[in-house]
Amino acid sequence: MPFKVAVLPGDGIGPEVTTEAIQVLRSVTDELEFDECLIGGAAYDAVGKPLPETTLKICKESNAVLLGAVGGPKWDKIEPPELRPEVGALLPLRRELNLYANLRPARIFPALIDASPVRFGPSGPIDCIVVRELTGGIYFGKPRERRDNGEVAVDTCVYSKIEIRRIARRGFEIARQRRRKLHCVDKANVLETSRLWREVVTEVAEGYQDVDWEFMLVDNCAMQLVRDPGQFDVILTENMFGDILSDEAAQVTGSLGMLPSASLSDPRGDNVFGMYEPAHGSAPDIAGQGIANPIATILSAAMMLRFSFDMKEEAEAIERAVSKALDSGLRTLDLGGNAGTKDATAAILANLA
Ligand code: IPM
Ligand code: MG
Repeated sequence: MPFKVAVLPGDGIGPEVTTEAIQVLRSVTDELEFDECLIGGAAYDAVGKPLPETTLKICKESNAVLLGAVGGPKWDKIEPPELRPEVGALLPLRRELNLYANLRPARIFPALIDASPVRFGPSGPIDCIVVRELTGGIYFGKPRERRDNGEVAVDTCVYSKIEIRRIARRGFEIARQRRRKLHCVDKANVLETSRLWREVVTEVAEGYQDVDWEFMLVDNCAMQLVRDPGQFDVILTENMFGDILSDEAAQVTGSLGMLPSASLSDPRGDNVFGMYEPAHGSAPDIAGQGIANPIATILSAAMMLRFSFDMKEEAEAIERAVSKALDSGLRTLDLGGNAGTKDATAAILANLA
């Protein structure tokens, strides 16, 4: 039976980059079946809400989700905010699909080593992964409200031991498959939630004696990522810190257009349900011009093969093909070249043949 993939192209360059990723997926496997649905501003324009029930239903019935990007200036001012693409589609989708483990690798391709705006520190170029808790913390805590006639606003950060334990295990498991180094990043000198993280992570770490790990305060981590990015392997952290640090790590690579991401639920046997999307946004300024870099989405598709379908060889084949295309000079606009979206895919497909 083929695997079912829900495709959510979304807004801006989302539709352009997902089209290319599907083409690359089709070239390495015929075991996938794609079902396209509306999300984000595109869904709001079509049916008046950013996450239609049918979209959620199709996602739940699929084995994985491929997402382009959502949002844009056109929908930024919609009231109430729950109807905007980010708050009304992306966050509920993460929560409804239980995608609590967000993996954001930040690595420089050898051919792009000069693109980084940060000089390497003592430990060499960046090659890390941010393991971000994605369905808890201040993004979802209650109450979230205005008080005193709007004079006061409240957001709440909540974490349970269960939430921390499952993401901590994921972080240590991933460290085991990499360089066995982990930094647990928090603000334990101020926040009670961070102190709970420390308690639980210390317990979980008992089961991973082979992983070399330590706590690091988030402000220090932000500084260390610029001072010596190569020191990090796995950065395990809560939702909001992970949001910020993953953008920082991405920028250290010098090319946001290259970075994939996976948001995973609980494992089911060898497979895990996940949503895969580029780390970049919808880039409305360049949408529809055929110049967007599709590589982040293509690499996200490779992550899908690896995590959701246990197709490790196919995933590696795609990653190698991307690396080779860059070695032989492929440069889209964001990388200072003039290759278009289709040219990039063609160069990658040529290396897969
Ligand atoms: C991300 C984005 C989202 C987040 C926004 C769009 C809600 O910044 O995926 O990192 O903060 O999680
Ligand atoms: Mg972000």
